[in-house]
Amino acid sequence: MNNITKFNGVDYTNTFATKISVMHELVKEVLSTQISNGNRVIDIGGGPGMGARIIDSLGIMTSVVNIEPSTTIHDVPRLLHVKYIPMQMSLKEALGVRMPFPGECILVVSAAHEIALCNNSSASKNKEIFSSEINQFIRKNLEPAGIIVVGFPNYRKGASSAEIAKQRRITELNLGHSHPAEELFTVEEFSNIFGTKPSVFIQRPMNIDPGNPDGTILMANVAVFSKTGDQVISTANP
Ligand SMILES: C[S@@+](CC[C@H](N)C(=O)[O-])C[C@H]1O[C@@H](n2cnc3c(N)ncnc32)[C@H](O)[C@@H]1O
Repeated sequence: MNNITKFNGVDYTNTFATKISVMHELVKEVLSTQISNGNRVIDIGGGPGMGARIIDSLGIMTSVVNIEPSTTIHDVPRLLHVKYIPMQMSLKEALGVRMPFPGECILVVSAAHEIALCNNSSASKNKEIFSSEINQFIRKNLEPAGIIVVGFPNYRKGASSAEIAKQRRITELNLGHSHPAEELFTVEEFSNIFGTKPSVFIQRPMNIDPGNPDGTILMANVAVFSKTGDQVISTANP
């Protein structure tokens, strides 16, 4: 499957997004304390403007660029508080394009693993290339005091391969595809990529199976990193 076009033709807003609402709620909680009126945000892999929608629902007056290669970008949100600038391109392409502004916040939600997969190599090589590209992008497009907010799914630490196999079957039924553990990122991997520990880290179970309200080993994680590497607090909230 071509990862750049994987979400083409999907009614993302009304299907996929509703299933991963725990992730979006967590991102909303974190953004509510991290951004304010007048900030400029660059959402990488934002689908149909998911970052802009979340920020708009907080009532924060911002400009949000969405770097998104798939046709989901044509589903343009109606927004009251956010100036929305969609740019249909991949992260790789965006490295050679002048952004409308440098951001105070770079946002990547449920997209890092998909972006990495576009490199079509082994999971570890894909992550290595992603690390180099996101850091190039940050150097060019994040204000010196800016932050990187990453929302990312993974499996509960210590989950057995049988538990992961079962979770993958549930995910495939509900979302149409699933990922082996090594394709998903951990908070330690992001700390290595950004060269610093997160100032905020929150993790919460993400149940995507309405028929089975209690059983999930899929986790939603949100971490905040600062470009300057300032470490404030690190909180795990399982
Ligand atoms: C699971 S969706 C997440 C969408 C949105 N951020 C959200 O929170 O719901 C992953 C997104 O990453 C996008 N994507 C895949 N490859 C990409 C790449 N190379 N550069 C930028 N975005 C990419 C996909 O098209 C898709 O919209």
